[in-house]
Amino acid sequence: MERNFQHAEPFRIKVVEPIKKTTRAYRTEALKEAQYNAFRLKAEDVYVDCLTDSGTTAMSTEQWSAMMLGDESYAGCKSFYKLEASAQEVFGMPYVQPTHQGRGADFIMAQYYAKPGKYAIGNMHFDTFHGNAEILGAIPVDCVIDAGLDAASPAEDFKGNIDLNKVQKILDEHGPDSISVIIITVTCNNNGGQPVSMANIKAVSEFAQAHNIPVVIDSARLAENAWFIKTREPGYADKDIREITREMFSYCETATMSSKKDGLVNIGGLIVTRNHDFYLYSNVQAIVHEGFITYGGQSGRDMEALAVGLLEATTDDYLEYRINQVKYLGDRLKEKGIPCVEPSGGHGIYVDARRFFPHIPQPEFPAQRLVVALYQEAGIRAVEMGGCAFGGKDPVTGEPTWPALELMRISVSRRVYTNNHLDCIVDALEYIYSKRDEYRGMKLIYEGPITALRHFTAGFELL
Ligand code: F0G
Repeated sequence: MERNFQHAEPFRIKVVEPIKKTTRAYRTEALKEAQYNAFRLKAEDVYVDCLTDSGTTAMSTEQWSAMMLGDESYAGCKSFYKLEASAQEVFGMPYVQPTHQGRGADFIMAQYYAKPGKYAIGNMHFDTFHGNAEILGAIPVDCVIDAGLDAASPAEDFKGNIDLNKVQKILDEHGPDSISVIIITVTCNNNGGQPVSMANIKAVSEFAQAHNIPVVIDSARLAENAWFIKTREPGYADKDIREITREMFSYCETATMSSKKDGLVNIGGLIVTRNHDFYLYSNVQAIVHEGFITYGGQSGRDMEALAVGLLEATTDDYLEYRINQVKYLGDRLKEKGIPCVEPSGGHGIYVDARRFFPHIPQPEFPAQRLVVALYQEAGIRAVEMGGCAFGGKDPVTGEPTWPALELMRISVSRRVYTNNHLDCIVDALEYIYSKRDEYRGMKLIYEGPITALRHFTAGFELL
């Protein structure tokens, strides 16, 4: 058998962006000024930025050159038709409405599919749909399998799967018409970038069809999910990635996409659907909220870059590099004994702060404390996905509520950092872990007017 010596990045670097190095004293001051909230730091004070994988992609030579062809006409521009063709190729659905970013698509989708007093089921809803659903008076509920809600559970191939028994229970308790939509987020961002299997997508679709419930896929990370299906699910190893994505979307009626992730672009979103009635509705909503039908808030240049990016992201060479880089970080952290969600996800590594700082109780924000330590020691920025982001107040009693997961997400931007950068993260976390007993928790001193959005603006004190 031929041996493969071509296991490095499937690209070379043509343009570089210098990054600033800072001292610990400088970062200590920056943290104080930001009230210990990573969202309030200046990006230029960050050495390796792992806050998000959204809109942070490095574009290819093909994308940059396509941008020069961008056609800026308002109606019927050439760039739209290129984007439409790429989206049809990847999603296998006929109707394409661009939006300015994913949340624009979420907003329009929620107006149509979320209904007051009815349940909107998801594996785990992303914040922007969740917020829209609540504003509309719908009841968003997460029905991911139990293993997906336990950061210490053993590795399992598809921790993003929906547990249909939980969905059935809602129908049994609240009646056959109590659910207005089921939304499958691929991969599942909130519990570790964990994939959803084709078998689960199909089973959810059959269940939904039997109960007359529409299925929507939130497809921000559709290519990463397809790669996990290809490499983990029997019967898919020899399939082309786009055959797999088209099969995934054959089981839904509509997809929304933040193209800032697997679209490999810095801004943009999509609605793709086979429901003509919803397509017409989305055109009208786009005209009033986003932009005309053939641009939806994107410039011709943006649509050109996305048309190319969607195709680049759905190739084996790219995905093998991408998923293996994230796995490299996960494997190295595991070697050092750092507790993470396992297996490694598609777009980042999620450190389990409950096990990292077992002596810090959840109301003292252990994951946020870890974010602060990582920035202070190394200038590396990650993001809290725990008690601050997902905690809240009980609507009836006003008592604080706390989420099942208490994680720090280390998001890995696409085609941006080298493994040397990832090694800095490993070294810093190893150091912090070695003196974990010395850390104390944090106190929330400011949370802004809307609890659900408090993580963006919150202020903390160190205890
Ligand atoms: N859906 C998912 C699954 C997402 O992860 C995001 C954004 C959105 C929708 C909204 O898209 O940002 O383009 O408006 N996630 C980013 C993150 C912000 O850091 O995970 P957007």
